[in-house]
Amino acid sequence: MAKDMDWDRRGLPARAYHDATIFALEQERLFRRHWQIVGHVSDLPEPGDYVTLDIAGERAVVIRGHDGVLRAFHNICRHRGTRVVSGETGRCNKAIVCPFHGWAYNFDGTLRGVAERQSFPPLDRRAWGLRPIELEVWQGFVFVRFEPSPQPPVARLMAPFEADFAPFDVPSMVRIPENDWQDRVPANWKSLRDVDNEGYHVRQAHPALHDLYGGGYTDSEWTGPVSRSDGVLNDGPGRLWSVRAYKALVGASPVAGLPQGRRWSYYNLFPNTVIGLYPDSAVWYQEIPLSPGETIQRGRAYRFREESRALRALRYLSGRIDRVTAAEDHDLCVWSYEATKSASGYAGMILSDLERGVRSFHDLWRREIPEGAD
Ligand code: FES
Ligand SMILES: [Fe+2]
Repeated sequence: MAKDMDWDRRGLPARAYHDATIFALEQERLFRRHWQIVGHVSDLPEPGDYVTLDIAGERAVVIRGHDGVLRAFHNICRHRGTRVVSGETGRCNKAIVCPFHGWAYNFDGTLRGVAERQSFPPLDRRAWGLRPIELEVWQGFVFVRFEPSPQPPVARLMAPFEADFAPFDVPSMVRIPENDWQDRVPANWKSLRDVDNEGYHVRQAHPALHDLYGGGYTDSEWTGPVSRSDGVLNDGPGRLWSVRAYKALVGASPVAGLPQGRRWSYYNLFPNTVIGLYPDSAVWYQEIPLSPGETIQRGRAYRFREESRALRALRYLSGRIDRVTAAEDHDLCVWSYEATKSASGYAGMILSDLERGVRSFHDLWRREIPEGAD
Protein backbone atom coordinates (compact mmCIF):
# COMPACT_ATOMS: atom_id res chain seq x y z
CA MET A 1 0.00 0.00 0.00
CA ALA A 2 3.04 2.24 0.08
CA LYS A 3 2.19 3.33 -3.44
CA ASP A 4 -1.24 4.52 -2.34
CA MET A 5 0.24 6.38 0.59
CA ASP A 6 2.67 8.16 -1.71
CA TRP A 7 0.24 8.88 -4.48
CA ASP A 8 -1.08 12.24 -3.30
CA ARG A 9 2.31 13.30 -1.92
CA ARG A 10 3.76 13.33 -5.39
CA GLY A 11 1.81 16.33 -6.66
CA LEU A 12 0.68 16.84 -10.23
CA PRO A 13 2.90 15.59 -13.04
CA ALA A 14 5.20 18.07 -14.75
CA ARG A 15 3.17 18.18 -17.93
CA ALA A 16 0.11 19.43 -16.01
CA TYR A 17 2.06 22.70 -15.71
CA HIS A 18 3.04 23.27 -19.34
CA ASP A 19 0.97 21.10 -21.69
CA ALA A 20 -1.16 23.20 -24.07
CA THR A 21 -3.94 20.59 -24.24
CA ILE A 22 -4.24 20.52 -20.46
CA PHE A 23 -4.30 24.31 -20.45
CA ALA A 24 -7.21 24.35 -22.91
CA LEU A 25 -9.13 21.89 -20.72
CA GLU A 26 -8.53 24.10 -17.69
CA GLN A 27 -9.83 27.14 -19.50
CA GLU A 28 -12.99 25.29 -20.45
CA ARG A 29 -13.71 23.30 -17.28
CA LEU A 30 -12.26 25.49 -14.56
CA PHE A 31 -12.19 29.12 -15.56
CA ARG A 32 -15.33 29.34 -17.66
CA ARG A 33 -17.46 27.14 -15.40
CA HIS A 34 -16.39 28.21 -11.92
CA TRP A 35 -17.20 31.47 -10.14
CA GLN A 36 -14.75 34.26 -10.81
CA ILE A 37 -14.34 37.22 -8.49
CA VAL A 38 -14.61 40.59 -10.25
CA GLY A 39 -14.56 43.01 -7.35
CA HIS A 40 -16.56 44.36 -4.43
CA VAL A 41 -19.69 46.49 -4.33
CA SER A 42 -17.62 49.53 -3.30
CA ASP A 43 -15.67 49.32 -6.57
CA LEU A 44 -18.82 50.51 -8.33
CA PRO A 45 -20.86 52.64 -5.94
CA GLU A 46 -22.75 54.85 -8.45
CA PRO A 47 -24.98 54.14 -11.47
CA GLY A 48 -22.76 53.73 -14.52
CA ASP A 49 -19.74 52.55 -12.49
CA TYR A 50 -18.26 49.32 -13.80
CA VAL A 51 -15.59 46.67 -13.22
CA THR A 52 -14.24 44.24 -15.81
CA LEU A 53 -12.59 40.85 -15.96
CA ASP A 54 -10.78 39.22 -18.89
CA ILE A 55 -10.20 35.51 -18.41
CA ALA A 56 -10.20 32.28 -20.45
CA GLY A 57 -10.85 34.13 -23.69
CA GLU A 58 -13.93 35.75 -22.13
CA ARG A 59 -14.56 39.37 -21.21
CA ALA A 60 -17.04 40.45 -18.54
CA VAL A 61 -18.29 43.86 -17.49
CA VAL A 62 -20.34 44.38 -14.33
CA ILE A 63 -22.17 47.70 -14.24
CA ARG A 64 -24.49 49.36 -11.71
CA GLY A 65 -27.87 50.41 -13.09
CA HIS A 66 -29.91 53.53 -12.33
CA ASP A 67 -31.99 51.22 -10.11
CA GLY A 68 -28.85 50.41 -8.07
CA VAL A 69 -28.79 46.81 -9.31
CA LEU A 70 -25.53 45.21 -10.48
CA ARG A 71 -25.69 43.34 -13.80
CA ALA A 72 -23.02 41.41 -15.67
CA PHE A 73 -22.62 41.26 -19.44
CA HIS A 74 -20.16 40.06 -22.00
CA ASN A 75 -17.94 43.05 -22.76
CA ILE A 76 -18.64 42.49 -26.44
CA CYS A 77 -20.46 44.95 -28.69
CA ARG A 78 -23.33 43.34 -30.55
CA HIS A 79 -22.35 45.19 -33.73
CA ARG A 80 -18.85 43.87 -34.42
CA GLY A 81 -17.64 42.65 -31.08
CA THR A 82 -15.25 45.27 -29.79
CA ARG A 83 -15.08 46.05 -26.06
CA VAL A 84 -17.86 48.38 -24.99
CA VAL A 85 -15.82 49.53 -21.97
CA SER A 86 -12.09 49.45 -21.26
CA GLY A 87 -9.90 49.39 -18.15
CA GLU A 88 -10.41 47.39 -14.95
CA THR A 89 -12.79 49.95 -13.45
CA GLY A 90 -14.49 53.06 -14.80
CA ARG A 91 -17.65 55.09 -15.09
CA CYS A 92 -20.08 55.51 -17.99
CA ASN A 93 -22.10 58.68 -18.40
CA LYS A 94 -25.79 58.06 -19.10
CA ALA A 95 -25.09 55.12 -21.44
CA ILE A 96 -22.46 52.56 -22.40
CA VAL A 97 -21.15 53.90 -25.71
CA CYS A 98 -19.12 51.59 -27.92
CA PRO A 99 -15.84 53.25 -28.95
CA PHE A 100 -15.94 51.73 -32.46
CA HIS A 101 -19.10 53.04 -34.21
CA GLY A 102 -20.92 54.55 -31.26
CA TRP A 103 -23.72 52.07 -30.58
CA ALA A 104 -25.16 52.92 -27.16
CA TYR A 105 -26.50 50.55 -24.51
CA ASN A 106 -28.50 51.28 -21.35
CA PHE A 107 -27.03 50.16 -18.03
CA ASP A 108 -29.55 47.29 -18.04
CA GLY A 109 -27.90 46.05 -21.23
CA THR A 110 -30.70 46.94 -23.65
CA LEU A 111 -29.75 48.61 -26.92
CA ARG A 112 -30.33 52.35 -26.64
CA GLY A 113 -29.19 53.80 -29.90
CA VAL A 114 -27.54 52.89 -33.19
CA ALA A 115 -25.53 55.35 -35.21
CA GLU A 116 -27.01 55.72 -38.74
CA ARG A 117 -29.87 53.48 -37.68
CA GLN A 118 -31.54 53.76 -41.11
CA SER A 119 -28.63 51.81 -42.63
CA PHE A 120 -29.63 48.65 -40.65
CA PRO A 121 -32.77 46.55 -40.76
CA PRO A 122 -35.00 47.03 -37.67
CA LEU A 123 -33.16 45.90 -34.50
CA ASP A 124 -35.03 44.82 -31.38
CA ARG A 125 -33.64 46.62 -28.29
CA ARG A 126 -33.63 43.50 -26.13
CA ALA A 127 -32.56 40.96 -28.71
CA TRP A 128 -29.64 43.21 -29.70
CA GLY A 129 -28.73 44.17 -26.14
CA LEU A 130 -25.51 43.15 -24.39
CA ARG A 131 -25.54 39.44 -23.61
CA PRO A 132 -25.98 38.77 -19.87
CA ILE A 133 -23.69 36.70 -17.66
CA GLU A 134 -24.57 35.02 -14.37
CA LEU A 135 -23.73 37.22 -11.36
CA GLU A 136 -23.71 36.71 -7.60
CA VAL A 137 -22.84 39.03 -4.74
CA TRP A 138 -21.63 37.38 -1.54
CA GLN A 139 -20.52 39.43 1.48
CA GLY A 140 -20.16 42.40 -0.84
CA PHE A 141 -17.85 40.53 -3.23
CA VAL A 142 -19.03 40.29 -6.82
CA PHE A 143 -18.66 37.05 -8.79
CA VAL A 144 -19.50 36.10 -12.37
CA ARG A 145 -19.70 32.77 -14.15
CA PHE A 146 -19.40 32.51 -17.92
CA GLU A 147 -20.93 29.08 -18.46
CA PRO A 148 -23.56 27.08 -16.64
CA SER A 149 -22.18 24.47 -14.25
CA PRO A 150 -23.40 22.21 -11.46
CA GLN A 151 -21.28 24.25 -9.05
CA PRO A 152 -23.51 25.63 -6.21
CA PRO A 153 -23.86 29.38 -5.61
CA VAL A 154 -20.95 31.14 -3.90
CA ALA A 155 -23.10 31.69 -0.80
CA ARG A 156 -23.55 27.96 -0.40
CA LEU A 157 -19.91 27.15 -1.06
CA MET A 158 -18.68 29.75 1.41
CA ALA A 159 -21.41 29.10 4.01
CA PRO A 160 -18.94 27.46 6.45
CA PHE A 161 -17.13 30.81 6.71
CA GLU A 162 -20.15 33.10 6.97
CA ALA A 163 -19.75 33.58 10.73
CA ASP A 164 -16.09 34.64 10.33
CA PHE A 165 -17.11 37.43 7.96
CA ALA A 166 -20.06 38.79 9.93
CA PRO A 167 -18.16 41.00 12.47
CA PHE A 168 -16.36 42.78 9.61
CA ASP A 169 -19.55 43.95 7.85
CA VAL A 170 -17.61 43.48 4.63
CA PRO A 171 -20.39 44.79 2.33
CA SER A 172 -20.00 48.24 3.95
CA MET A 173 -16.22 48.32 3.43
CA VAL A 174 -14.60 50.78 1.03
CA ARG A 175 -12.07 50.20 -1.71
CA ILE A 176 -8.49 51.41 -1.20
CA PRO A 177 -7.60 52.33 -4.81
CA GLU A 178 -3.90 52.83 -4.07
CA ASN A 179 -3.70 49.18 -2.99
CA ASP A 180 -4.79 47.77 -6.38
CA TRP A 181 -1.99 45.53 -7.60
CA GLN A 182 -1.15 43.34 -10.54
CA ASP A 183 1.83 41.14 -11.30
CA ARG A 184 2.60 39.35 -14.57
CA VAL A 185 4.39 36.14 -13.64
CA PRO A 186 6.20 33.91 -16.16
CA ALA A 187 4.81 30.72 -14.62
CA ASN A 188 1.83 28.42 -14.81
CA TRP A 189 -1.11 29.57 -12.66
CA LYS A 190 -0.90 26.38 -10.57
CA SER A 191 2.71 27.15 -9.64
CA LEU A 192 1.34 30.34 -8.05
CA ARG A 193 -1.46 28.41 -6.34
CA ASP A 194 0.99 25.78 -5.06
CA VAL A 195 3.06 28.46 -3.33
CA ASP A 196 -0.03 30.13 -1.93
CA ASN A 197 -1.70 26.94 -0.74
CA GLU A 198 0.79 26.15 2.03
CA GLY A 199 2.41 27.88 4.96
CA TYR A 200 5.38 25.51 5.23
CA HIS A 201 7.51 28.05 3.34
CA VAL A 202 6.66 30.99 5.60
CA ARG A 203 9.53 30.44 8.03
CA GLN A 204 12.18 30.42 5.31
CA ALA A 205 10.75 32.68 2.62
CA HIS A 206 8.79 35.33 4.54
CA PRO A 207 10.70 36.65 7.59
CA ALA A 208 8.12 39.37 8.25
CA LEU A 209 5.15 37.01 8.09
CA HIS A 210 7.00 34.52 10.21
CA ASP A 211 7.59 37.12 12.91
CA LEU A 212 3.94 38.13 12.66
CA TYR A 213 2.35 34.71 13.01
CA GLY A 214 5.01 32.08 12.45
CA GLY A 215 4.23 28.89 14.38
CA GLY A 216 0.59 29.98 14.57
CA TYR A 217 -0.17 29.21 10.93
CA THR A 218 -2.50 26.43 9.78
CA ASP A 219 -3.90 25.39 6.42
CA SER A 220 -7.15 23.50 6.41
CA GLU A 221 -7.64 20.80 3.82
CA TRP A 222 -9.81 21.72 0.86
CA THR A 223 -13.28 20.40 1.65
CA GLY A 224 -15.08 20.56 -1.62
CA PRO A 225 -13.99 23.66 -3.47
CA VAL A 226 -13.19 25.79 -0.38
CA SER A 227 -10.45 25.94 2.21
CA ARG A 228 -9.24 28.28 4.90
CA SER A 229 -5.78 29.24 6.19
CA ASP A 230 -5.13 31.15 9.39
CA GLY A 231 -2.12 32.94 10.78
CA VAL A 232 -2.62 33.75 14.46
CA LEU A 233 -0.55 36.71 15.63
CA ASN A 234 2.10 35.76 18.14
CA ASP A 235 3.61 37.82 20.94
CA GLY A 236 7.21 37.37 19.87
CA PRO A 237 9.50 40.21 18.83
CA GLY A 238 9.58 41.28 15.18
CA ARG A 239 12.79 41.86 13.23
CA LEU A 240 11.04 44.38 10.99
CA TRP A 241 9.68 47.62 12.37
CA SER A 242 6.48 47.15 10.38
CA VAL A 243 5.78 43.90 12.24
CA ARG A 244 6.60 45.37 15.64
CA ALA A 245 4.38 48.36 14.93
CA TYR A 246 1.58 46.14 13.65
CA LYS A 247 1.49 44.10 16.83
CA ALA A 248 1.60 47.24 18.95
CA LEU A 249 -1.36 48.79 17.12
CA VAL A 250 -3.56 45.77 16.46
CA GLY A 251 -5.80 46.64 19.42
CA ALA A 252 -7.16 49.51 17.28
CA SER A 253 -9.03 47.03 15.12
CA PRO A 254 -12.85 47.18 15.22
CA VAL A 255 -12.78 43.39 15.69
CA ALA A 256 -10.25 43.51 18.55
CA GLY A 257 -11.39 41.18 21.30
CA LEU A 258 -12.70 38.63 18.80
CA PRO A 259 -10.52 35.78 17.50
CA GLN A 260 -10.53 37.61 14.14
CA GLY A 261 -8.82 40.52 15.84
CA ARG A 262 -5.65 38.46 16.27
CA ARG A 263 -5.39 36.61 13.00
CA TRP A 264 -4.92 36.92 9.26
CA SER A 265 -7.32 34.52 7.56
CA TYR A 266 -7.47 33.45 3.94
CA TYR A 267 -10.54 31.87 2.35
CA ASN A 268 -9.86 29.99 -0.86
CA LEU A 269 -12.47 29.28 -3.51
CA PHE A 270 -11.38 26.77 -6.13
CA PRO A 271 -9.79 27.24 -8.54
CA ASN A 272 -8.28 30.73 -8.32
CA THR A 273 -9.91 33.05 -5.77
CA VAL A 274 -8.59 34.04 -2.36
CA ILE A 275 -10.34 36.41 0.04
CA GLY A 276 -8.34 37.60 3.04
CA LEU A 277 -9.62 39.07 6.31
CA TYR A 278 -7.15 41.03 8.42
CA PRO A 279 -7.96 42.90 11.64
CA ASP A 280 -7.62 46.12 9.62
CA SER A 281 -8.94 45.34 6.12
CA ALA A 282 -10.22 42.78 3.63
CA VAL A 283 -8.45 41.76 0.41
CA TRP A 284 -8.98 39.50 -2.55
CA TYR A 285 -6.67 38.22 -5.25
CA GLN A 286 -6.90 35.86 -8.19
CA GLU A 287 -4.79 34.25 -10.90
CA ILE A 288 -5.64 34.89 -14.54
CA PRO A 289 -3.86 32.36 -16.77
CA LEU A 290 -2.73 33.85 -20.10
CA SER A 291 -0.90 30.79 -21.40
CA PRO A 292 0.57 27.65 -19.82
CA GLY A 293 3.64 29.68 -18.85
CA GLU A 294 2.23 33.11 -18.13
CA THR A 295 -0.17 34.31 -15.45
CA ILE A 296 -1.51 37.60 -14.20
CA GLN A 297 -2.08 37.77 -10.49
CA ARG A 298 -4.13 40.75 -9.35
CA GLY A 299 -5.79 41.94 -6.20
CA ARG A 300 -7.57 44.74 -4.36
CA ALA A 301 -8.02 45.81 -0.75
CA TYR A 302 -10.88 47.34 1.25
CA ARG A 303 -10.97 49.25 4.53
CA PHE A 304 -13.49 49.90 7.26
CA ARG A 305 -15.63 52.94 6.46
CA GLU A 306 -14.73 54.70 9.72
CA GLU A 307 -11.05 54.65 10.62
CA SER A 308 -9.13 56.01 13.60
CA ARG A 309 -5.58 57.17 12.98
CA ALA A 310 -4.27 54.00 14.58
CA LEU A 311 -6.49 51.82 12.38
CA ARG A 312 -5.29 53.64 9.26
CA ALA A 313 -1.70 53.07 10.34
CA LEU A 314 -2.51 49.42 10.98
CA ARG A 315 -3.81 48.86 7.48
CA TYR A 316 -0.93 50.78 5.97
CA LEU A 317 1.36 48.32 7.75
CA SER A 318 -0.54 45.21 6.61
CA GLY A 319 -0.44 46.51 3.03
CA ARG A 320 3.28 46.98 3.36
CA ILE A 321 3.85 43.49 4.78
CA ASP A 322 1.65 42.06 1.99
CA ARG A 323 3.71 43.77 -0.72
CA VAL A 324 6.94 42.42 0.73
CA THR A 325 5.41 38.92 0.92
CA ALA A 326 4.18 39.01 -2.68
CA ALA A 327 7.61 40.06 -3.93
CA GLU A 328 9.21 37.21 -1.99
CA ASP A 329 6.79 34.70 -3.55
CA HIS A 330 7.27 35.86 -7.15
CA ASP A 331 10.59 34.12 -7.82
CA LEU A 332 9.57 30.97 -5.94
CA CYS A 333 6.58 30.57 -8.28
CA VAL A 334 8.75 31.09 -11.37
CA TRP A 335 11.50 28.73 -10.23
CA SER A 336 9.03 25.94 -9.36
CA TYR A 337 7.40 26.32 -12.75
CA GLU A 338 10.71 26.35 -14.65
CA ALA A 339 11.69 23.10 -12.94
CA THR A 340 8.69 21.28 -14.43
CA LYS A 341 10.18 21.95 -17.88
CA SER A 342 13.50 20.28 -17.10
CA ALA A 343 13.10 16.96 -18.87
CA SER A 344 16.29 15.50 -17.43
CA GLY A 345 16.36 17.12 -14.00
CA TYR A 346 12.83 17.25 -12.62
CA ALA A 347 11.65 14.10 -10.87
CA GLY A 348 8.43 15.41 -9.36
CA MET A 349 7.74 16.72 -5.87
CA ILE A 350 7.16 15.25 -2.44
CA LEU A 351 4.64 16.96 -0.19
CA SER A 352 4.72 17.03 3.61
CA ASP A 353 1.77 16.91 5.98
CA LEU A 354 2.20 20.67 6.29
CA GLU A 355 1.46 20.99 2.56
CA ARG A 356 -1.97 19.39 2.79
CA GLY A 357 -3.44 22.50 1.17
CA VAL A 358 -1.40 21.75 -1.98
CA ARG A 359 -2.29 18.06 -1.87
CA SER A 360 -6.01 18.57 -1.58
CA PHE A 361 -5.96 21.32 -4.24
CA HIS A 362 -4.27 18.84 -6.59
CA ASP A 363 -6.94 16.25 -5.75
CA LEU A 364 -9.68 18.70 -6.71
CA TRP A 365 -7.84 19.53 -9.91
CA ARG A 366 -7.44 15.84 -10.84
CA ARG A 367 -11.15 15.32 -10.41
CA GLU A 368 -11.87 17.98 -13.02
CA ILE A 369 -8.95 17.26 -15.37
CA PRO A 370 -8.39 13.50 -15.13
CA GLU A 371 -6.52 13.67 -18.45
CA GLY A 372 -3.67 15.42 -16.61
CA ALA A 373 -3.62 13.29 -13.50
CA ASP A 374 -0.53 11.20 -14.36
S1 FES B 1 -18.40 47.44 -32.88
FE1 FES B 1 -19.53 48.55 -31.41
S2 FES B 1 -20.51 50.06 -32.56
FE2 FES B 1 -19.49 48.91 -34.06
FE1 LIG C 1 4.33 32.84 0.22
